[in-house]
Amino acid sequence: MASSFAWLALILGLGVTGALDYNIQANSSKLLRVLNASAPVQELKYHIDVWRNEEALVAVEATLESVIRSEIGGNWERGWLVLQLANQARTPELKEAIYSALWKELQQTTQIYDPAKILEFHEQLSLHTDVPQELLELIYRAFINRSAQLLEAPFHTRSRVATFPLVDSLVHRLTFSTLDYLRDILEALYDAVLALETPLSVVERLGNFSASLIQLAEANLQLLGREELKRADTQVQLAVQSNLRNLLAHPDFELQVPYSLQSEIYEHLPRDEQIMYTARKVCIRNVTDANSYIYECPQTYLICSNARDPKKAAYFVQRGHSNDSRQQFAFFSAFWRNRYILMEPFTATASNASHSSITKNVYSRTDINWWRVVYGNGGISLYDAATEKSVLCGGDPSYWDGEEHHVYTRHASEFSAHQTECTWSLEDCSDAA
Ligand SMILES: *[C@@H]1O[C@H](CO)[C@@H](O)[C@H](O)[C@H]1NC(C)=O
Ligand SMILES: *[C@@H]1O[C@H](CO)[C@@H](O)[C@H](O)[C@H]1NC(C)=O
Ligand SMILES: *[C@@H]1O[C@H](CO)[C@@H](O)[C@H](O)[C@H]1NC(C)=O
Ligand SMILES: *[C@@H]1O[C@H](CO)[C@@H](O)[C@H](O)[C@H]1NC(C)=O
Ligand SMILES: *[C@@H]1O[C@H](CO)[C@@H](O)[C@H](O)[C@H]1NC(C)=O
Ligand SMILES: *[C@@H]1O[C@H](CO)[C@@H](O)[C@H](O)[C@H]1NC(C)=O
Ligand SMILES: *[C@@H]1O[C@H](CO)[C@@H](O)[C@H](O)[C@H]1NC(C)=O
Repeated sequence: MASSFAWLALILGLGVTGALDYNIQANSSKLLRVLNASAPVQELKYHIDVWRNEEALVAVEATLESVIRSEIGGNWERGWLVLQLANQARTPELKEAIYSALWKELQQTTQIYDPAKILEFHEQLSLHTDVPQELLELIYRAFINRSAQLLEAPFHTRSRVATFPLVDSLVHRLTFSTLDYLRDILEALYDAVLALETPLSVVERLGNFSASLIQLAEANLQLLGREELKRADTQVQLAVQSNLRNLLAHPDFELQVPYSLQSEIYEHLPRDEQIMYTARKVCIRNVTDANSYIYECPQTYLICSNARDPKKAAYFVQRGHSNDSRQQFAFFSAFWRNRYILMEPFTATASNASHSSITKNVYSRTDINWWRVVYGNGGISLYDAATEKSVLCGGDPSYWDGEEHHVYTRHASEFSAHQTECTWSLEDCSDAA
């Protein structure tokens, strides 16, 4: 028995000598030849199978490890060759020894500081069906830990204009992997940064992160799920909402972010805002008068405040983006012969003629017309998206005409003086026939 082991050590020993002697090319490596050639592999298998006692196995692995490590000689790229050849080693022990040796080697090189290298190794190893699960998990954990460490940097930096190219490239690399990796990294990241920084600071930093929309959606939602955030004050909640709004406002948001994540985001917005994104159709009505909805007037093509009638009052919501990529909305009615709620551009003559600060220029028309929605004061306000100089108001009987309870626009600057006239309540009317 002892002599068999000596023989095995001799083969591997030769490998060591060969590797150390002449800074060999990968192709002429003794080790690779030993592992590659069929005969010696079978011999190795035979000897390892015979040598089932612990002591001997440890010795074999230790020797193999040193052979492999001298083979790689600090040049990690050579590790891929060794890994390829692991397929040629026919005993599980030998394969495992190769995998472990490679992992040890990776930890010795400076590459271990680069999460992308660990991830690459993990992915390569995962292609082999016989890698021990514990080893894979250890490597995965190391990848998660290193990634989280790297991502911590921006969260501990006061400057909001500092750039982090390594963080950016890691984040970009992660776009090619499953979202689960990101989730695990974020969990480790938040453990660390929330221990040292305030929740508000963490939320604001995240607001400055550059990453894909999906990643940012996931990162903000995961942060919201943390106990530290649930305990935080309203200022923190508002900061998160601001992050979420920036995502929503992105023209590609609906295209890129999976619907399940979108819905989760909407749930964290105030009710009216949520409705603007989730409702297929909305009704717009007076905040205090539950029997006053806007839709086409009884006799004209102007828009009026009318009695409650969900069928007539339900408008499809269309979302768009203006030049500056901010969001805008249009309200379309199938009931009213495919017309939109439209504000005619404000003309100088019209305003001068009336000598009034209000203008009756809101119609039911076939052309699309965009509105900017502002949330607040217990409801929403609608400004014309093109100029943002007019706001939609109603309810003052002196501008009505019999049964025609016309709505009208005021100059945007008058909003604060006429808040109740220019704030509306939003209802989800998706179910209206
Ligand atoms: C090893 O040989 C292959 C072809 O057999 C060649 O493509 C490769 O460049 C060689 N590698 C080294 C390090 O010499
Ligand atoms: C491994 O063996 C194959 C076929 O036996 C041979 O073509 C290849 O060059 C060998 N590789 C090394 C690194 O020795
Ligand atoms: C990863 O980090 C956790 C928590 O700091 C630690 O317990 C664990 O040992 C680390 N694992 C690896 C593989 O680095
Ligand atoms: C970081 O976020 C703040 C607040 O959202 C913003 O004012 C600032 O312009 C951002 N900085 C950069 C570099 O994006
Ligand atoms: C939008 O852009 C077009 C041309 O790119 C320009 O003519 C128009 O004035 C812009 N509109 C606004 C509201 O900025
Ligand atoms: C309104 O009319 C007055 C004189 O009649 C004129 O000076 C003023 O420029 C007009 N306003 C607008 C907005 O055109
Ligand atoms: C809502 O109704 C109240 C009371 O009738 C009125 O004062 C207010 O101007 C109306 N607001 C709107 C937006 O119609």
